[in-house]
Amino acid sequence: MNAVPEVSRAPRQDGDLVLVANELTKHYPVRRGMFGHGTVKALNGVSFSLSRGKTLAVVGESGCGKSTLARQLTMIEPPTSGRLLVEGEDVAGANAAQLAGFRRRVQMVFQNPFASLNPRKTVEQTLSEPLVINAQMSAAERAARVAQMMRTVGLRPEHAKRYPHMFSGGQRQRIAIARAMILDPRIVVADEPVSALDVSIQAQILNLFMDLQEQFKTSYVFISHNLAVVEHIADDVMVMYFGGVAELGEKKTIFAKPRHPYTRSLMSATPAIFEADRRTQIKLQGEMPSPLNPPSGCTFHQRCPYAIERCKVEEPKLREVDGRLVSCHRAEEVGDADG
Ligand SMILES: Nc1ncnc2c1ncn2[C@@H]1O[C@H](COP(=O)(O)OP(=O)(O)OP(=O)(O)O)[C@@H](O)[C@H]1O
Ligand code: SF4
Ligand SMILES: [Mg+2]
Repeated sequence: MNAVPEVSRAPRQDGDLVLVANELTKHYPVRRGMFGHGTVKALNGVSFSLSRGKTLAVVGESGCGKSTLARQLTMIEPPTSGRLLVEGEDVAGANAAQLAGFRRRVQMVFQNPFASLNPRKTVEQTLSEPLVINAQMSAAERAARVAQMMRTVGLRPEHAKRYPHMFSGGQRQRIAIARAMILDPRIVVADEPVSALDVSIQAQILNLFMDLQEQFKTSYVFISHNLAVVEHIADDVMVMYFGGVAELGEKKTIFAKPRHPYTRSLMSATPAIFEADRRTQIKLQGEMPSPLNPPSGCTFHQRCPYAIERCKVEEPKLREVDGRLVSCHRAEEVGDADG
């Protein structure tokens, strides 16, 4: 068969910025105890840009706002403030039809393929769905496209009539990836897409992501709490803490010499990647503060081994130090003092 229908695509150019987030902010109103209300500031002014065919890895501990960011980027919910540009077009103010167009270009892969796939639908039904909604195709063309996509993600097309429970975890995540990729999106936001899988399967799925990127020039926002995974897959790295950006830059720059104390503590807690620094390992004190009761000054100051008086009162701005962006008053000293 050679007449596999192509999903129409606009020409792409190398170096295009496909996604720009500008001061994205998300506040959730919540009930606070029996009286009154509070606000959870889940995302506080996050900015970054993503180029065509590149991967930005987002890393940080539980509750720092990674999934909230994913929901803003995929337009599952609107931000409280800030701007999001998809291929240079502002998402704010889009009407329903325009928003549907933006959403088609930004697809999502979730952590748990057991929960994200409909157990009552066959693989073919799951993968046909986006085609039915979005593309003018005959049933035969859709079936051909589904078979082609299954092959592309390493599944056997003769299994198209099977249900999710008949597949392993890794195969199910391949189905979820196929569903995300079938309309040839510009961007895939993957929220911990390998953390629910056996370690032996994780590398296969990471390699699949990388192969697909090579083939389709898709851009990824790849969320992970695992720095070994990040080191494998990222071009750029954004380290998040308490809803904000602690450090952002090229992977090689940040891994070679992290300049934020929080990045350093994450790295020293991940054995395989920071061998050289085992002796100067930083242990994180305590837990992230309550989002209902944010600390003054630097949000990291209660846990930071580098904290000084200034940190308690003055919030550090994100600024360029040594080829990356970092929000720490002492960034110049952090990499050098003991590195
Ligand atoms: N709908 C919501 N209403 C109120 N608070 C929320 C809501 N969604 C998230 N939060 C809060 O926002 C903060 C960020 O949550 P988020 O799920 O984005 O973190 P995360 O980095 O994805 O964590 P994990 O690694 O555990 O998945 C948390 O304090 C969380 O409790
Ligand atoms: S600003 Fe101060 S408290 Fe915050 S990370 Fe830097 S040294 Fe630590
Ligand atoms: Mg999450």
